[in-house]
Amino acid sequence: MKDFMNDEFLVPEDAHYFDSACQTLRPASVLAAMRDYYENFNSCGERVKYKWGQKVDEKVDGTREKLLEFLELSPKKYFVSFTQNTTYGLNLILSQLNVARAGISRILTSDIEHNSPFLATMALAKRTGLPREIITREDDGSLPVNYDYSAAILVVNVASNIDGRKLKNLHEIVRVVHKAGGLVILDCAQATVTAHELLRKCEADAMCFSAHKAYSASLGAIVMRRDFIRFLDTSFIGGGMVDDASRDGYVLSASSPKSEHIHTIFEAGLQPYAEIIAFGEALDFILRSEKNGKIAQMKEFGVSVFEFLGGLDNVVLLNSEPATVLAFYMKNLDGHLLAEALNRENIMVRSGYFCCHYYLSHVLGLPPLVRVSLGLHNSAADVEHFKKVMAKVSGK
Ligand SMILES: Cc1ncc(COP(=O)(O)O)c(C=O)c1O
Repeated sequence: MKDFMNDEFLVPEDAHYFDSACQTLRPASVLAAMRDYYENFNSCGERVKYKWGQKVDEKVDGTREKLLEFLELSPKKYFVSFTQNTTYGLNLILSQLNVARAGISRILTSDIEHNSPFLATMALAKRTGLPREIITREDDGSLPVNYDYSAAILVVNVASNIDGRKLKNLHEIVRVVHKAGGLVILDCAQATVTAHELLRKCEADAMCFSAHKAYSASLGAIVMRRDFIRFLDTSFIGGGMVDDASRDGYVLSASSPKSEHIHTIFEAGLQPYAEIIAFGEALDFILRSEKNGKIAQMKEFGVSVFEFLGGLDNVVLLNSEPATVLAFYMKNLDGHLLAEALNRENIMVRSGYFCCHYYLSHVLGLPPLVRVSLGLHNSAADVEHFKKVMAKVSGK
């Protein structure tokens, strides 16, 4: 087998994968980090005194530090916990939130949300009886600054999985919501790579990530303001979270915003150590890809696909501007049938509503769509192949 360089992807040459918004492929360095754990120090973290366990702790702590550095946030103010994915993270926060203690009496989300925040805010409204409002995002992805954000918890994405639209005025919105006495929880699932610049120094109350959409193994992360833990009634609980347990009680390790083990508040039971270690490698990979122009190149491919699809008569493109995530439908061919036709040419795209049923089906009333989402493994040849096949299918 060929020796793959650190930043290369192990993709068969005839496979044209365009579903990175769901999960990205993993570069060799990330796979190597996982393998290293399994082959050389496969053991438990945070509980053991032997040297393999110490190495796990060092590497896991390293990933926590790297994520905060990536976001340019201070460990004095924020902490990182690992979880399963963005959906899990949002649910862990919202299902344990004590709204009275947090001073919250309204729940806000937006129209273009993935079911992940969309349904989790619905569940919060059901549990608490608080009203839930759906704000219409501007065409460029921003939120209105003059909306009434008082005593509200705002749960929204930073980048959309439909058309890559970004919350362009994120920093301003965080300031406005905080000034109005509200809280901001961000769905960063699509934002880690292509909206990194927006996330830097963003002082939201909590942010949820999916590492599998950011070149890492399947994993989620919550980045949270330390003093936010005062608003949580911990109910998802078990091993690894307590300093002591008596017959009918326990002492949480995350007993105060200053606790050394504050991250344990969301980390019940043994953690996926190999995946956490891999995430540290993936963050390095993303930073290298920013520096060496690979992310800029991927965005250029997005411009090229945007212009190409915009030029096809029988294609309706949802994007109002270029992005690495593009959604469209053909006027004369069902989206699922088109995805099957593309698959016969080894082109892997998504079809349907991409877990955004409310916006795409109920608000816009659209037929099932096709989504092309680019990743750092994509080459100019992938893009050309897609264009050639799409041109043939659309009769151009
Ligand atoms: C914008 C957005 N939010 C949330 C999610 C949910 O991510 P996960 O399935 O990893 O929890 C996705 C997944 O596609 C997404 O694109």
